[in-house]
This record gives sequence, C-alpha cells and structure tokens, in this order.
Amino acid sequence: MISQDFLQTLATEYSVSNLELKVLELAMNGDSTTTIAQKLEVSEDAVRKRLSEVYRKFKIPGSGPVKLTKLQQLILSRYQEHTVQSSSNSSPNSLNFRQQDVNPHQIWDGAPDVSTFYGRAEELATLERWIIRDNCRVVMLLGMGGIGKTSLSVKLARQIQDSYEYIIWQSLHYAPPIKEFLTNVIEFLASPQKIDLPETLYQKISYLIRYLRQHHCLLILDAIEVILDSDNQVWRYSNELEGYGILLKRLGEEQHQSCLVLTSIEKPREVALQESRTGFVRSLELKGLQPEAAQQILLDKGLSGEHQWLELIQTYRGNPLALKIAAATIQEVFSGHTSEFLKYESLLASNMFREILDWQFKRLSNIEKEIMYYLARENNLVSVQNLKMAMPTSITTSVLIETLESLRWRSLLEKVQSEGKNTTETLFSLQPVVMNYVNSEFRDVRDKH
Ligand SMILES: Nc1ncnc2c1ncn2[C@@H]1O[C@H](COP(=O)(O)OP(=O)(O)OP(=O)(O)O)[C@@H](O)[C@H]1O
Ligand SMILES: [Mg+2]
Repeated sequence: MISQDFLQTLATEYSVSNLELKVLELAMNGDSTTTIAQKLEVSEDAVRKRLSEVYRKFKIPGSGPVKLTKLQQLILSRYQEHTVQSSSNSSPNSLNFRQQDVNPHQIWDGAPDVSTFYGRAEELATLERWIIRDNCRVVMLLGMGGIGKTSLSVKLARQIQDSYEYIIWQSLHYAPPIKEFLTNVIEFLASPQKIDLPETLYQKISYLIRYLRQHHCLLILDAIEVILDSDNQVWRYSNELEGYGILLKRLGEEQHQSCLVLTSIEKPREVALQESRTGFVRSLELKGLQPEAAQQILLDKGLSGEHQWLELIQTYRGNPLALKIAAATIQEVFSGHTSEFLKYESLLASNMFREILDWQFKRLSNIEKEIMYYLARENNLVSVQNLKMAMPTSITTSVLIETLESLRWRSLLEKVQSEGKNTTETLFSLQPVVMNYVNSEFRDVRDKH
C-alpha cells in the first residue's frame, strides 16, 4: 500500500493542493466521481475540476486515455523506485539500473523499474526468438490496460540489450509530433556528429532507416494507443500524429537490421495489415499472468486467505494492475482478508476499470456496442452463428466478422476454440471485468438491444 507520507511528498513535489490530494486518494481507491462528491460534500463538477488539475500537474496528457490508470501507475512506479532506493542503495539491481541508464547509447525515457517482475518466461522466450533469431522488424505487444505490456517491453529490452548497439525506449504518453520525435532519434543516433536534417517527413524517415540499416538498434515505443484517433476506428491517427503510421508502415516494409517494438491497447492498421506468423511483422496478444506469478504479487502485498487467491486471480484474469489495486483495497478496507473483498468484488471491479473502459467504449462503433451488449447479456460463450442470429438482419455476416476482428484488436473480446468430434468452433465472450462494466454501466441500453 502506498503510504500517506509518500503521497504527501509527491503532492508537494507536484504542487498538488490538500483538496486535490483528497480527491486523488479517493479516486485511487476506485471511488466514482459521485461517491467522492458525497464523501467530500462538494459538487461532482468540483471533483472533476480537481481531478483534471491533478492530471495536469502530473502531466497526464489531456487527450490521452485511461488517465486515472496512468496516474496510478505513475504513482506506483514512483513508489516502487522510492522503496527500492531506500531499502537498498547498493543492491545489484539498482546498481545495474544506474549503470545502464548512463550508457550513452541507450535512452530509457520514462521506462519503469522492472526489478520486481514475475513470470512471463514463455512470452520473453517467444519475443526473443522473433526479434533475435527471426530478425523481425516490427513486433507489437497488444493487451488490455494494466496487463503488463510496458513492464514486459522493458524487461525484454533489458534482457536483449547486449545484442544491440543502440536502445531507445520511449513512451508516447506525451505524444510528440512525429517530426520532433524523428529529429530527436536521428540526432541521438548520429551523435556526436552534427547533421543537417532534411525537411520532409518522408526524407526524415528515410534518414532514420539509413541508420537502422547501418546499426543494430532496438526502438521501443510504449503506449501507442495514445496516438490513435478515437473516431470509432482503430485505424486512424490524430491529425498531427499521422506520420507515426507512415513510420510504422515503412519500418515494417523496408529492409533494415533493427527492430521496432510497440505496446498498445489497440492494434494499428499498419500492423494488422502487415503482420503474419512467419513474416517480419508480428504481434503478441498479452494475456494475464499465470497463477504462480500473480500469487507473488499478492504475496508481496501481504494478503491472507491464500485459498481464495485463485478466485481473485481468475476474476481479474491475472491482470497485474487490477491485482495490485485489489490487493491495496483488501489491505486497506478489509484488513487483508480476501474473502471479505470477494463479496463486493463485482461492484469494485467495474469501478477499478471504469476509466479505461469508458475510454475504450467511447471509441466503439454502434455495431461494436451492439455486440458488447449482447455478449454481456448472454454472460456465456457465443458462436458467430448465434451472434448472427441475434443481430439485426441489416448486419451482414462479413460486417459481423469485421466487427469481431475490430473488437479483438481493441483487446475487448475473449476467444476460445471449442473442439467437437470433427469440427472446431470459435466462441467469443467478455472477460468478467468487462462484463461487469457493461452490465452495470449500460444496463438500460443493453436491455433495449
Ligand atoms: N510480470 C510482472 N510482475 C510483477 N508486476 C507486474 C508484471 N507486469 C506488470 N506488473 C505491474 O502491473 C502494473 C501494470 O503493468 P504495466 O504498466 O506494464 O501494464 P500496461 O499493460 O502497460 O498498462 P497500460 O495499458 O495502462 O499502459 C505495474 O504496476 C507493473 O509494475
Ligand atoms: Mg503501459
């Protein structure tokens, strides 16, 4: 649990007022705007204003998604850094970290500390194989909020760093315009040589690709969902960020000896169109942590009631962020007793993911929403055929399949293969947290569909 003192120190550092801090604490605990307003006896508008001040002060970007989740992560990672530093300034990990950070050929801009990292051996092995053995040019880590994409990308980069001359780990949270981004990267790769950069975007990318051909570079762009536009299509970019799409496309298509690793909640079109199982562009759908690894997180939090942990882990599908937040609530409110928490879990789970799911839901097309309502109402695995029968006749099978694909790209659908005697059928459903969210937030709308 993040200590009060630590939050107070952060508040001072970021000039957060006492009232803003109170709102922040309640929001971090998963309270909705309405509940916070009631608890603090202020209007909901005042709560929203204070929260947006907090986001501004912590530089959580205005147009970005899942602001509360991002803020929680920022605070958690600052807290982890703080505890690692204060518990052991001379531990091998922290020394290692500092040494790597001063390597003039590496940038780790905003990369979280991954000295506490559990499981993921299989994913790391797959990614290493794709990148080192198969020379993939673009590799995407796709998964829902908090599933561990950022941490895995850092762990991976740390693990394979010796194979690269240059490493650039860059978060897109502040989404710099593409030309600025390219200028920074090229100047870094060219340093100490001073260069005259060409003006146009196309030429700048060509310039970068020249470096990526001459040198082994590992480029990691984290949270690229931030630059994808929200007009009901996974494929477009916000106007001034459009050039990132061209960059992705060219890095996937053209020959070079470097690798671009991307993390995102949603899959951009360039990756979807270019990827294949054996080609140079691949994507890995990140699921939650295996139970053993997830248990480590709960163990670290000092929870009791181990026999109920599996239920907790299953409910959150091994999502480490959800487990961390749940564990904090269990400690704080239920004195460490998991069983108590589980009684209220369905209420709390949707709260926890409300920010992130609000953001994702706003981006859905009407057909996508229809499918989500239907799956939430069914509360079960559903085949394409059943979905087709349940949808209005105006939705053709091809539109239905395209829409299912789009929902998968948005990390919102679970998919299972059901093996019959001679046939295999693909079935879809929502994971419990998403199901809870749709059922509680859209009960009225859902039932009209
Ligand atoms: N393998 C792991 N072992 C321990 N903790 C982990 C692991 N993976 C992630 N975490 C923790 O879970 C939280 C969420 O992880 P992370 O930020 O990597 O998720 P994300 O998928 O990038 O989320 P977002 O979509 O919001 O950016 C962090 O606090 C991180 O430290
Ligand atoms: Mg992330």
